[in-house]
Amino acid sequence: MKITVIGAGRVGSSVALNCTIRELGDICLLDIVEGLPQGEAMDINHQLAERGIDCTIRGSNNYEDMKESDFVVIVAGVGRKPGMTRMDLLKTNAEIVKGVCNKIKNYAQNSKVIVVTNPLDPLTYLVIKSLGGQKTKIMGMGGMLDLSRFKEHISTLTGMSRESIQAMVISEHGENMLPLVRFSSISGIPLTEFITTQQSEDLINKTKKIAAEVISLKGATVYAPGNAVSTMIECIVKNKRAILPVSALLEGEYGCNDICIGVPCVLGSEGIEKIIELKLDENELKVFNLGVQSVKNAIENLSL
Ligand code: NAI
Repeated sequence: MKITVIGAGRVGSSVALNCTIRELGDICLLDIVEGLPQGEAMDINHQLAERGIDCTIRGSNNYEDMKESDFVVIVAGVGRKPGMTRMDLLKTNAEIVKGVCNKIKNYAQNSKVIVVTNPLDPLTYLVIKSLGGQKTKIMGMGGMLDLSRFKEHISTLTGMSRESIQAMVISEHGENMLPLVRFSSISGIPLTEFITTQQSEDLINKTKKIAAEVISLKGATVYAPGNAVSTMIECIVKNKRAILPVSALLEGEYGCNDICIGVPCVLGSEGIEKIIELKLDENELKVFNLGVQSVKNAIENLSL
């Protein structure tokens, strides 16, 4: 497998590290800043050498080097500063991502694409429209990261092993994310049996707010997103057919059309093999629809 990561900043280099540690393939780490991807590649290769992992990672400033990629991860762009929402990044990052799409068209048209740059859902839509590719092959990573956080909070609150927690987070990767307490469990036992309604509300709020807290403390989120992207790639490379939250193009599912938003998807060798439609209750639907509206508004502001 060849995995190209476009954007060798904090998250891009973490994606490269996580993919190689899992031995998913060889990495091409691309950035416009000279020296940065080469330096990151050296540092990661040194770790891999000591571990005895033979995946190679190469840094480059030349988009041509993405030729014959099986996967392209788009993580180029600016991150939010303390106090900003993900939507505040729309204009700047849409221009960057459009430029990246032109390069993908030239050099890696047949690859599967995972979008990471924020705001995640509108930019995943932008990439699907720009590449005119199959909607099963282009997807966004946002919900997987929200899920990592939700799981951590569930474990802390209940005192149960992280290993036994199954959960789901859908909707917008942003202000209207929807951690689904009702569809979460601890070893198959509904989470609602372990926690009160108040605790459930607290869990949801904490999951929504925690990224901003990390950003205010250390400037960016790095390790958890790198891991989340590599989990998605691993699922596809190994044809695991696991159900993960993914930003996918909806065409009728959840009563929505022509919009990308986080939903549970079966990920296998074909990419998004199925979108799972959950029966949301009134309150869940309210948040989901707010997410849809927010992404729609952003899409309207994109010049495609
Ligand atoms: P960063 O600033 O550390 O790295 C971004 C890199 O992109 C820089 O090295 C920059 O030179 C590069 N870049 C800019 N334009 C480029 C181009 N045209 N071609 C190649 N490289 C280019 O930022 P960080 O923290 O790595 O975040 C990157 C993006 O990922 C941000 O938009 C951030 O909001 C988003 N993000 C998304 C997450 C998600 O769950 N979807 C989680 C964390 C971050």
